[in-house]
Amino acid sequence: MKPATTDRLWGGGYSEATHPLVQAMNASVSFDQALAREDLIGSTAHATMLRDQGLLSEDDYLAILAGLRQLLAEVESGGFVWSEAREDVHMNLEATLRDRIGAPAGRLHTARSRNDQVALDERLWLRRRVAEIGASLAHLMEVLADLATRHADWPMCGYTHLQRAQPVTLGHHLLAHAEALVRDAQRLLDLQRRNDACPLGSGALAGTTLPIDRAKVAQLLRFSSLTRNSLDAVSDRDHLVEAMAAAALGAVHLSRLGEELVLFATAEFGYVRLPDAFTTGSSLMPQKKNPDIAELVRGKAGRVIGDLMGLLVTLKGLPLAYNKDLQEDKERLFDALDTWDACLRVTADMVAAAQWQRKALLDALDRGFLLATDLADALVEAGVPFREAHERVASLVADLSRRGRTFASEGPRAVAKALGVDEDAVARRLDVRKSLERRDLPGAPHPARVRREARQMAARARKLASQAAVWNRPCPAELLLTT
Ligand code: ARG
Repeated sequence: MKPATTDRLWGGGYSEATHPLVQAMNASVSFDQALAREDLIGSTAHATMLRDQGLLSEDDYLAILAGLRQLLAEVESGGFVWSEAREDVHMNLEATLRDRIGAPAGRLHTARSRNDQVALDERLWLRRRVAEIGASLAHLMEVLADLATRHADWPMCGYTHLQRAQPVTLGHHLLAHAEALVRDAQRLLDLQRRNDACPLGSGALAGTTLPIDRAKVAQLLRFSSLTRNSLDAVSDRDHLVEAMAAAALGAVHLSRLGEELVLFATAEFGYVRLPDAFTTGSSLMPQKKNPDIAELVRGKAGRVIGDLMGLLVTLKGLPLAYNKDLQEDKERLFDALDTWDACLRVTADMVAAAQWQRKALLDALDRGFLLATDLADALVEAGVPFREAHERVASLVADLSRRGRTFASEGPRAVAKALGVDEDAVARRLDVRKSLERRDLPGAPHPARVRREARQMAARARKLASQAAVWNRPCPAELLLTT
């Protein structure tokens, strides 16, 4: 028999060194080092429990805790040297702990596997990242609420099929985007509940024979429950899928807002001006100011959707319990949530700085027969069946368009005559402001309602921001590690 080779970090009985391409494919440290802080927090909780259970002496515990603190300082100062030969974040930290404190480091991994360790790290990482994204969502909601308050009574065209349809207000339009963000935030709240279970103690797949205390670890890490099946706990990535699905939909929402900024900033619309800070020039055409950032916010959705699909396909058909395929979850998870957060933050600043053009918004209203439905409603009030009212207004619109006229240029008397109703009734209907004020029902763009909704949106944003701060507060193990 050939002698055991030494290029593996542990395990005996190998008769061959690994193939030269193995290390590069097997190693995850280039990306999973993002989990370092969570890994150290998890180890702190685990070591504290081992000490309390008599599985670790006080001296060894103190040496380990001091070592973990030193590692955290090295990692956060950028001084930690990551090694591909040490495969992943867990083995890098454990092996370096041994370099620093010697023998006691060998007791830290008692009753633990990298399978429950990585499951834990990802849950802790997700909890913090979701808190940060919650804060970013809250900020964008607040920006939109503030803009909606200031533009609650700015009339603008509402569109269906991108054709001018009926008048709304700019405030109402902006709050429509904010409503989608509220649903994004609800999805975060919901997935945090399922993420709130501690997997540590599941071991490699079947728990442990040693007398550990899972509840103690959960309490040190501020989880309110324990995972209930060790096989499921080390192979479950549902909370990551849910977060990435929320990210994908959130990015889709932002892409719709981004598209409107691109569209409304064109010379053809002219509704909004994007400040220079958010535009770039063309390398060839001297006059260009391109809305690159709004375009990228629109484009990034594709990437986040790809991240989600990638993870779903990785998970499909995997047998229980842990499989190395699961290592493929991380880059996509990080990318999806980082991209969503970056889009939220840049959108908030871009939207806050955008300058809406009142005159262009009003001019478009004058040219689009947007009060046609209002006129039909006037006929309905005079007793005409809606279908007939619709027909009479439609043929008037067709006639005016042919002659290059509008309701306003034609005037209430002629319009009333053509429709066969009272001039007064028509005059009352040909005023955009009055039209908006008649839309006084829940969810509609009456300016006073828009102002009220904007206030409530700001309150929802504040509530979300304080929830995010609660998620983000350090757990007891983190305090042990950092103070
Ligand atoms: N780097 C691994 C991952 O991210 C950690 C778990 C490895 N477990 C194992 N049994 N090889 O999935």
